[in-house]
Amino acid sequence: MLFFHTSKIVEFLYLWGMLKKVLVTGGAGYIGSHTVVELFNAGYEPVLLDDFRNSNESVIDGLSNILGDRPELLKHDVCNTDYLRDYIRKHEVCGIIHFAAYKAVGESVENPLRYYQNNVEGLVSILKMVSENPEIPFVFSSSCTVYGEPQGQKEVSEKTPKTIPTSPYGFTKWLGEKIIDDLFFSQKKLRLMSLRYFNPIGAHSSTQIGELPIGKPNNLLPFITQTAAGLHEKLTIFGDSYPTIDGTCVRDYIHVVDLAEAHVKALDYLINAKDGCHEIVNIGTGNGSSVLQVVNTFEKVNDIKLNYEFGPNRPGDVIEIYANVDYAKKLLGWSAKKTINDAVKDAWNWEKSIRSIK
Ligand code: UFG
Repeated sequence: MLFFHTSKIVEFLYLWGMLKKVLVTGGAGYIGSHTVVELFNAGYEPVLLDDFRNSNESVIDGLSNILGDRPELLKHDVCNTDYLRDYIRKHEVCGIIHFAAYKAVGESVENPLRYYQNNVEGLVSILKMVSENPEIPFVFSSSCTVYGEPQGQKEVSEKTPKTIPTSPYGFTKWLGEKIIDDLFFSQKKLRLMSLRYFNPIGAHSSTQIGELPIGKPNNLLPFITQTAAGLHEKLTIFGDSYPTIDGTCVRDYIHVVDLAEAHVKALDYLINAKDGCHEIVNIGTGNGSSVLQVVNTFEKVNDIKLNYEFGPNRPGDVIEIYANVDYAKKLLGWSAKKTINDAVKDAWNWEKSIRSIK
């Protein structure tokens, strides 16, 4: 069992071929691929499990360029429990980070069964492995969507009551945490953590990996960068008369590399934990930014003019939310280091690199 993770020990384990693997489901996705890099940088050996249904195989080339070698790739569905069982029996896996899931709010409303099948069945499949191998720590991708629209205080802590999310996507995250709670109740030695992400943006500064939305992006930053790259005529800002600083919605935008590092800290914590737990931790910056502020920052940092207009409110949008990040700092010794300026710069450099824009 790997209890300490100093560089000397990692070096020793490498030399003796004893370094244990971390299984990263959805490792070719946006957050997954950045986490693969940070795991590698911390001395872990990330193994990607991805069937590319919602990601692009070119991500593996980008990862190889950053890591200097091709990462181990298991091209399988996370719902293939028999395959997972066989893999874990044959390899020393020291942790599992579970990203593999669908994430588009609107699509989940149109096709709820697709979401329940992939997100819930996938989670149950991977948790069976944790249940059968209780020594393996497990990190789950949850979301601030479990808070719904905060009543009163817009800064939410892990103690803020959850609300049942309106979209099936959101409900799969809410339910995911509940499933993990129930499993922990039945097996108190398990070491489990749910990370509630706020809004990840940005890309790796190498421009080798970043966000690769399939089809028209739903999220703000990829829509901004694609508009700046000429793929869309203009950005529509959904709503300008909300009760916020400038009438547009407020979110806690976190650089994806900071978010990736939080997963390494989560895994380090669980590997060293003596007792079982299901910890729930907000992963954000602690600062809210409005849509208009993000647009203005993008224009200023990248010295580019963005064509945008104001349109009607997007149904189901939360008005304002940002994270209280005290617990992440206390438990994991983690806090976000990068700024929104870094994120919009990296996102634009990434977009330019994939569109071959100088
Ligand atoms: N926005 C626009 N125009 C666009 C796209 C977005 O004005 O073209 C606005 C939205 O209305 C919202 C803000 O930008 O006010 C952020 O929207 P995103 O779609 O980027 O992010 P959301 O906060 O709606 O949703 C994100 C993830 C979800 C997750 C949720 C809460 O996409 O998967 O955070 O965790 F559930």
